[in-house]
Amino acid sequence: MDKSKGDKTALTVQQLKGMNTFAELGCIACHSGPNFSGPNLPIGMGWFMKFPTFTGSEYDDKYRLMEDMGRFEATKKEADKQMWRVPTLRNILFTAPYFHNGAVKTLEEAVRVMAKTQLNKDLSDEQVQNIVAFLNALTGEIPEQTMPRLPSLEGMSVVTE
Ligand code: HEC
Repeated sequence: MDKSKGDKTALTVQQLKGMNTFAELGCIACHSGPNFSGPNLPIGMGWFMKFPTFTGSEYDDKYRLMEDMGRFEATKKEADKQMWRVPTLRNILFTAPYFHNGAVKTLEEAVRVMAKTQLNKDLSDEQVQNIVAFLNALTGEIPEQTMPRLPSLEGMSVVTE
């Protein structure tokens, strides 16, 4: 198959609906690019966004969202208050609990919290299910990590003078 044209059967109908909802709601404003973590920036620079953008929802207290000041803790700059790195959504199914403090246990709830705090939107159950189905589709192979090894000394002649 010619992969450059995309595989139109790769996503289920529900996942496609979720992908459209994700885009229409505006999740993509922050979670953009191939890893859904914003544009590629030079090494040393990060794609930081405010979280929560809309404060005052029930979630602020429920999940202690105002306790940690984010990037401000490191830079002490006023503009960095509540700024967080936009995380990738790839393999998100396996990375519970969610957010910087791990306060949210399920992906469904994380999606609701995001919609409310970042976009000031209340989602229907169906919207949540569709987005979660879409996020499920972002599951892929996790690259194998091989540990570095020192070269073996076997067969080397050791000079001992
Ligand atoms: C204004 C920017 C912005 C928008 C819009 C936004 N997000 Fe996020 N998202 C973030 C940031 C920043 C974090 C990291 C928060 C943290 O570390 O506590 C995050 C975290 C997440 C997480 C948890 C990731 C993890 O590993 O813990 C999920 C899931 C998520 N977003 C999904 C969504 C969905 C779905 C939408 C749309 C309804 C959305 N986001 C809209 C900025 C945004």
